[in-house]
Amino acid sequence: MIEPKSDIVRKINLLKEQRQAVILVHNYQRPEIHEIADFVGDSLELSRLAASTGAEVIVFCGVHFMAETASILSPHKTVLLPVPDAGCPMADMVTAEELDARKKELPGYTVVTYVNSTAAVKALSDICCTSANAVKIVDSLDTNDILFVPDQHLGAYVQSQTGKNIKFWPGYCPVHAGIMPEHILKRKDEHPEAVVIAHPECRLEVLALADEVLSTGGMVRYCRQSRGNEIIVATDAGMLYRLRKESPSNTFIAASDKAKCKNMQLIRLDNVLASLQHMAGEVKVADGIRGRALQAVERMIELG
Ligand code: 13P
Ligand code: SF4
Repeated sequence: MIEPKSDIVRKINLLKEQRQAVILVHNYQRPEIHEIADFVGDSLELSRLAASTGAEVIVFCGVHFMAETASILSPHKTVLLPVPDAGCPMADMVTAEELDARKKELPGYTVVTYVNSTAAVKALSDICCTSANAVKIVDSLDTNDILFVPDQHLGAYVQSQTGKNIKFWPGYCPVHAGIMPEHILKRKDEHPEAVVIAHPECRLEVLALADEVLSTGGMVRYCRQSRGNEIIVATDAGMLYRLRKESPSNTFIAASDKAKCKNMQLIRLDNVLASLQHMAGEVKVADGIRGRALQAVERMIELG
């Protein structure tokens, strides 16, 4: 027999108290997961919360690199990822060995690594960034030569904003790179009054058609200040749930119905319950890697 949702939620809340757990949820997660969250946010907001929470256990409803970042920042806490296979294809586009080899080809370059990367890759980096602070981080560096890893599109956006000499890693997010300028133009045609907001993981040609380029947290804040408008949203379609909930007077239109991150949709209520029941899906970063990765992440949190 399938258990009613309300019973699962009740059990999750009970266990959460017993385990002294906090549930952190990324904006792209399923609506049912938003409903059990202690905090919903973007990568930067969630890593700050992971660093500052007093809870013993962090249940991270997001993808693997996010849980790893929480473990890097809070090594004495238990970090659980309810579906251990929830990964990020872009994070897997660069290995530590590959980055090490590239660094040798580019002596003197500062390695700026997007948090969508493994802990081992972060450990080889000078500083991390998220989509919310990438421009600010690169701007604040006193060096001009940057190796930006792994998202070439975010790197290209940062270059367009900072004018620095940036070498790109050829990684990309398949969800955002799949949004094409034609998609935006079609939506603008259908909704001539609409404003366009786009995530900086999109192609530069898409960003050129946007009124605002924003992280997912930036999108929430921007839309809260807007009333009764049509807004075309160029990011994972999972984002529309939170936007509609937080600013219901606006009409939100997904730039592309195909822009859906399968990994972000993997976690369901029963996975969260099972994870809390059995303390399953623990993500822990090995000490040797953690120390070096922490420096890059902490430098980002201090600067950004
Ligand atoms: P944000 O940091 O903007 O939430 O982005 C995370 C992400 O994975 C986007 O694809
Ligand atoms: Fe990775 Fe893209 Fe999914 Fe974000 S939306 S988790 S970058 S695949």
